[in-house]
Amino acid sequence: MLLKNNIILAIESSCDDTAAAVLHNRKVLSNCVANQDLIHKTYGGIVPELASRAHQSKIVPVVTQALADANIDKKELTAIAYTQGPGLLGSLLVGSAFAKSLALALDLPLLPIHHMQGHLLVHFIEEEGIKAPNFPFLGVTLSGGHTQLLHVQEYFNMQLLGTTLDDAIGEAFDKCGKRMGCSYPAGPEIDKLAQTGDPKRFSFPISKLKAYDVSYSGLKTAFTNFLNKEEQKQSNFIQENLNDLCASLQYTLVQIILTKIEKAAKDHNLNQIVIGGGVAANSEIRRQLASAASEHQWEVFFPPLSYTTDNAAMIGIAAYYKLKQKNYGSLSDHSLARLKL
Ligand code: KG4
Ligand code: ZN
Repeated sequence: MLLKNNIILAIESSCDDTAAAVLHNRKVLSNCVANQDLIHKTYGGIVPELASRAHQSKIVPVVTQALADANIDKKELTAIAYTQGPGLLGSLLVGSAFAKSLALALDLPLLPIHHMQGHLLVHFIEEEGIKAPNFPFLGVTLSGGHTQLLHVQEYFNMQLLGTTLDDAIGEAFDKCGKRMGCSYPAGPEIDKLAQTGDPKRFSFPISKLKAYDVSYSGLKTAFTNFLNKEEQKQSNFIQENLNDLCASLQYTLVQIILTKIEKAAKDHNLNQIVIGGGVAANSEIRRQLASAASEHQWEVFFPPLSYTTDNAAMIGIAAYYKLKQKNYGSLSDHSLARLKL
């Protein structure tokens, strides 16, 4: 297939998903992901060394698949994009080394991308069911590694308003889920079990921090202590109350961030709330935000489910805007486990 310019191969390997996508301008031609959940399930969380090794073995097949699905020959590519950070260093290095080698071999420009910007810019993909917000908007990234509120003025002009001081919201889902015996990652399982549970059955503390920061570790500790205490009285307490526990926990996890979203939107006079990251798939956050939206006259933007958890299409769309600005990277760019916005 011969297309004119702006064909980007994007690679995402910041955590435990090896992903590659091909975009033609803002359209996604292919979006492939090799998930590593099975590798990490045994350990109840991500083992960085195993993640890095799995990326090494999967990156060639995933990129090959992405090119084949898009019906694009590598000679037709315009640029190569990859996730520069933040993420696990060993994982990031696999993606960046591969992207750099391919760019060098094909003599193509490189586009290093910020993972969290990708999670938000996914809303600019041209596809049925996706509506792009207008600038400025309140960006909210909710993932296993991040919980951030951002004042987004332009594609790459985002000011961090608030963040978690400890665990990310997805991490809290996963850790509390592990304590209840759910397998990794526990977020989707808690979401499912909560469907038939009572969110008001148990109440857990909500951290009260100033401004827009949140904290999830206090809730995690309170939840664990509560289970320890109840199990002393009734050894099968978790099994007997699993649905209500999941619903009550999930309700509180979402309340914590919702309070901050409401405050940030009001203080900054923003009425478009744009959500990104794996936890955007959660049905309770969707429900609570929908009801807040009708109360505050907000427009809330959720990505389609396929673009919530880590994927390379989000890296590709961010790269498209970098390409338009001719904002290229170079072979000497470093992968960064911590990368500022
Ligand atoms: O964005 P993501 O794929 O990876 C990171 O950048 O961290 O997010 C993964 C996180 C995990 O913590 C997972 O438990 C959570 O997203 N997650 C969910 C749901 N689906 C995925 N959490 C709650 N409800 C869900 N439906
Ligand atoms: Zn992510």
